[in-house]
Amino acid sequence: MKVLLASSEVHPYSKTGGLADVVGALAKALAKEGLQVGLATPLYKGILEKFPGIHPSDLRIDLPLGTRRVEGEVFQLEGESGLTVYFIRQSDFFHRAGLYQETGADYPDNAERFVFFSKCVMHLARHLAWQPDLIHVHDWQVGLVPLLIKHAKERAGWGTAPKTCLTIHNLAYQGVFPRSAYELTNLPEDYFHPGGAEFYGRMNCLKAGITCADLITTVSPRYAREILTEAFGGGLDDVLRQRQRSLVGILNGVDYTEWKTTGNPFLNNSFALRNLRGKEAEKLSLQLTMGLPQASDRPLFGSICRLVDQKGSDILLGALVEMLAANMQFVLLGSGSPLLEKAFQNLARRYPDKAAARIGYDHPLSHRIEAGCDFYLMPSRFEPCGLNQMYSLRYGAIPIVRATGGLDDSIIDLTEDLEQANGIKFYEYSSRALAKAIRKALVLYRELPLLRHFRKNAMSADFSWDRTTAEYVDVYRRTLAAA
Ligand code: ADP
Ligand code: GLC
Repeated sequence: MKVLLASSEVHPYSKTGGLADVVGALAKALAKEGLQVGLATPLYKGILEKFPGIHPSDLRIDLPLGTRRVEGEVFQLEGESGLTVYFIRQSDFFHRAGLYQETGADYPDNAERFVFFSKCVMHLARHLAWQPDLIHVHDWQVGLVPLLIKHAKERAGWGTAPKTCLTIHNLAYQGVFPRSAYELTNLPEDYFHPGGAEFYGRMNCLKAGITCADLITTVSPRYAREILTEAFGGGLDDVLRQRQRSLVGILNGVDYTEWKTTGNPFLNNSFALRNLRGKEAEKLSLQLTMGLPQASDRPLFGSICRLVDQKGSDILLGALVEMLAANMQFVLLGSGSPLLEKAFQNLARRYPDKAAARIGYDHPLSHRIEAGCDFYLMPSRFEPCGLNQMYSLRYGAIPIVRATGGLDDSIIDLTEDLEQANGIKFYEYSSRALAKAIRKALVLYRELPLLRHFRKNAMSADFSWDRTTAEYVDVYRRTLAAA
């Protein structure tokens, strides 16, 4: 089977969140499974310098974008067996400080940038010598690809065009632009209707993917059910219900070759379930780095996230104000809303011995926080899958999660199954409910045999890509087999 993946971010080349981790790992895992895999992504600033193996390919790009033509180049990198990464170089669009925005404001030409990228993906699919059977696109930035392919197949003479699969990583981002942006697609007007790319008079890139892809997946079984409801559907629940038979929830995997507690280049100490001394040393070193008193017996809570409404920062702040009087510490790594950044900085200022906040993006520190913490907080309002709760399981930081989306699918509370319990769940979206869950954690911390039991379950939980990859291959196969 030959698959071309496309994503606006891919670890280790570019990343703002879990999308990058998942697409990077999925591409590797599919190639390992024996599929021929290509992966298309923009060539952002700094990538060429960091990965000297990337070289120009023979493919040229010269595509219409509304009333003008835009040129670009395709660079490529041969990765692990059977995987080739194709980088689209278009310096005006992609050689910038950020991926989607700078200083909190989206780039005003994001429609141009990602309509162009979507067209490049189709161009690759058409001109690559190995001719993919399936194009698998991720999120709104490439949501138009299934529509472009549908058009090419049904009306523009490419009858053998590949099938398409769209994965929704987050329905909160749909790529909605003014109607005028539709002209950038150079598609006939008659796709611009509520059953296609139109959404209340505007262009919606994700909706175009949902209505036109042969297969739709999302990143956990529970989120696949949630998005069919008005509360989680972001205005697209109706369209999703119409496509329900082609919608599948597949829980993300974890790349344990990167997220590991032994031989991890970002950690100074290795540790394992049988020997947690290294974890204790990581805790002391994290406390030092974050400017907190070093105390191995004080429960340390951590959180790493984009500071946006989704992640539950408001109830986290409320719960911490209530709980920081207790004997505990809290560290945060995150960036996003200036208001939330300031709120966490103020919290740290108010409780200098108890709370610390590092504002910014810091990959090495994210590993150190998972390793050094006793508990990991993820009180999301909604969470399609979430990766950090799965990373923290492996690092022995017991996750405290709100029971939503992939958090509910991946964490087991003791009220659900005492034998298998590996985390603490709460249900109501409120500071009070989260504070109560933190109180449970403080009790657990003092009950050593029970804490050991949780850690054992947590550290031995297995979310490796083998299972996830098998599920993707299965749905690809069924899609290709369908007429
Ligand atoms: P989302 O994709 O919604 O942001 P996930 O839990 O799926 O949530 O993935 C987030 C990923 O981004 C994780 O790998 C996490 O460690 C990383 N991350 C988020 N914020 C930061 C940050 N400030 N510094 C370093 N890594 C971060
Ligand atoms: C999105 C979601 C997150 C998910 C990630 C990778 O950014 O917010 O829950 O884990 O994509 O699929």
